[in-house]
Amino acid sequence: MAEITKELVLKALSTVEDPDLKKDLVSLGMIEDLKIDGNKVSFSVVLTTPACPLKEIIKRNCENALFEQVSEDIDSDIFMTSNVTTIRDNAPLLPSVKNIIAVASGKGGVGKSTVAANLAVSLAKKGAKVGLIDADIFGPSVPTMFNCEHEQPGVVERMGKNMIVPIQQYGVKLISIGFLAPADNAVVWRGPMASSALKQFLSDTVWGELDYLLIDLPPGTSDIHLTLVQSVPVTGAVVVSTPQKVALIDAQKGVAMFKQPQINVPVLGIVENMAYFTPEELPNNKYYIFGEGGGRNLAEKFDVPFLGQIPIVQSIRESGDNGYPAVLKDDVTAASFSELAESLAQQVAIRNANQDKTKVVEIKA
Ligand SMILES: Nc1ncnc2c1ncn2[C@@H]1O[C@H](COP(=O)(O)OP(=O)(O)OP(=O)(O)O)[C@@H](O)[C@H]1O
Ligand SMILES: [Mg+2]
Repeated sequence: MAEITKELVLKALSTVEDPDLKKDLVSLGMIEDLKIDGNKVSFSVVLTTPACPLKEIIKRNCENALFEQVSEDIDSDIFMTSNVTTIRDNAPLLPSVKNIIAVASGKGGVGKSTVAANLAVSLAKKGAKVGLIDADIFGPSVPTMFNCEHEQPGVVERMGKNMIVPIQQYGVKLISIGFLAPADNAVVWRGPMASSALKQFLSDTVWGELDYLLIDLPPGTSDIHLTLVQSVPVTGAVVVSTPQKVALIDAQKGVAMFKQPQINVPVLGIVENMAYFTPEELPNNKYYIFGEGGGRNLAEKFDVPFLGQIPIVQSIRESGDNGYPAVLKDDVTAASFSELAESLAQQVAIRNANQDKTKVVEIKA
């Protein structure tokens, strides 16, 4: 058997592509800790997200390349790890938060909060460090959806300033106005107060290191959206819609808002929620009660990715009300949220590899 060298191994691995980033693993700098001992080869493949849906495929492609191009006697030990990418280097605010992701919709009640909560929990379950800001100051839903309505965040002093400590639930760091003000008080909030509450969530909260900070936005295109894009560079936005025409028309406005040249926040994709009805006892039957294909058509029209469909299922509503996100269960509904989280992580990685930094929006008076 010819000697196995690092050069031979790297040459073989340079024929394996990351299917999303469309470059080989060696040029992408994804191979680390390469060790060779006789016919034993071990190394790590550092992916761009722990939620990578292609993890197993990439691993198999590496094994095949080594077997075919280096030696049939090779005994490879491949560790699949990750280091989430960011375009937010040197950000003055939240420097250790790698990606800020806005979850928006045009129309109210289409399931933004449900989608945001399940995405957050799913990404955390897959090993990412995740935070979720409930930016719906007038109608917070995070406390209910995470079953922590009666919790109060702690306060710590950092460099002479009082900072809020987020609540942790199901592996996600959470902040919501619902933790700070009693629910029946929220109605008296005015627009500027709501914006300053969001600013506090961004600047006066101890988030620590996060891979993904999701922002559950209120419906429509409000001051809160502007406050967000003016305060921090946003990696991208997820737009949630249901398949009805009225919701899709409003979702278009949401997509158009992020795409405006002055805002210029990349749309990471469209989520079609309540896409079809599936009776729990007949999981293979799909009834497109609100129409079919609307989300995908919208994505095609605006040339943005289509992230996936979530069915309308009674248990999703119950999970939200009971404070136990649907993705924590072990059923087809959980799988649809899990796949959605993988699509999102994939789009974040692609965006970070291919696009320019998002700039903070400056509004001139
Ligand atoms: N896929 C689904 N299947 C069943 N019920 C759902 C689904 N998605 C959301 N719901 C339910 O629909 C209602 C509205 O959802 P949610 O609060 O997530 O919407 P929203 O867009 O955040 O609303 P708002 O605009 O008020 O913030 C909730 O009762 C939720 O449990
Ligand atoms: Mg909501």
